[in-house]
Amino acid sequence: MTQNKKRLLTGLQPSGQLHIGNYFGALKPFVDLYPEFESFLMVVDYHALTSLKNPADLKQNILDVVRDYLAVGVDPSKATIFQQSLVQEHTELAWIFECLVTVPFLMQSHAYKDKVTKGLEPNAGLFNYPMLMAADILLYDTQVVPVGQDQRQHIEYAREAAAKFNNTFGQTFIEPEERISDTLAVVPGTDGKKMSKSYGNTIPLFGTREEITKAVMSIVTDSSGERPEHVYAIHRLFKTDAELEPLYKANKGNYKNLKDALIEDLDAFIAPMREKRNSISDEDVKKVIEEGSAKARTLAAAKMADVRNKLGVTL
Ligand code: ADP
Ligand code: TRP
Repeated sequence: MTQNKKRLLTGLQPSGQLHIGNYFGALKPFVDLYPEFESFLMVVDYHALTSLKNPADLKQNILDVVRDYLAVGVDPSKATIFQQSLVQEHTELAWIFECLVTVPFLMQSHAYKDKVTKGLEPNAGLFNYPMLMAADILLYDTQVVPVGQDQRQHIEYAREAAAKFNNTFGQTFIEPEERISDTLAVVPGTDGKKMSKSYGNTIPLFGTREEITKAVMSIVTDSSGERPEHVYAIHRLFKTDAELEPLYKANKGNYKNLKDALIEDLDAFIAPMREKRNSISDEDVKKVIEEGSAKARTLAAAKMADVRNKLGVTL
């Protein structure tokens, strides 16, 4: 990794099966971006603990999210891929930031309020979440943080934590910038609404031919318009309008043919990634995580030594 590259870090939620909305909205933009930077890719398992309390699922999801990123083209020799809980400095630094920010400041978190409104338990970890995320970012002198729009405020929290620490104990942390990809619109699901795992309207990113077929067959069609809009809206992710228009004209009213054509195009797109994913064993994934985490630990330990020294806790 060359030294003149800016440093980039992002966090991956170990939250189970990805869909093609995640691919176009998050994975692809990341794959296009990360080689320009000295990149860090972290599985945020301790963030997931705020809501997930099933050890078997968590264990599986940690391996799966890394496997998914490798399958879509992240090269572990070009990025440090690691697991948050294997670098204990994250929780340590989070505590220090929690002692610098106020409860009313954390109460302004939209993400916290949204999650509690949706019925998540308001545990103290969920409330302090932004300070763990600040620690994730600031430990590595991160300059650029690629995230979704919903994470913008969390990066502001990280900047505030850096500023508070720097003002109190002297210049230590870099204030990071968010990088929000201007995503080509929202990927629609099988019912025409935003594709989302919580709506049950997804097409799985690594789905088998059967799973793809089942999802496409469930696309809601209505016969009132010129063409089945929900089928077309998904088809457009893989073909241009110029390619699709003759097909849709020739098969006007024949939804079965149009859905078959979409299944073909989806499968042609997914199959290589699915095959790559199937070829990556748990052992391969563990090796990547262990090597990346050892590297991250070295950097985090050096940063924390400076932090502890500035705090006055070293003897
Ligand atoms: P879900 O809505 O399925 O729960 P997440 O909230 O876990 O998805 O999203 C993870 C990432 O994928 C985010 O960066 C988000 O912006 C992106 N993403 C999710 N759904 C879509 C979609 N339908 N279109 C574009 N991007 C999406
Ligand atoms: N909060 C982020 C999300 O829900 C995940 C995350 C945790 C993260 N720590 C991070 C993202 C550090 C970027 C940088 O998506």
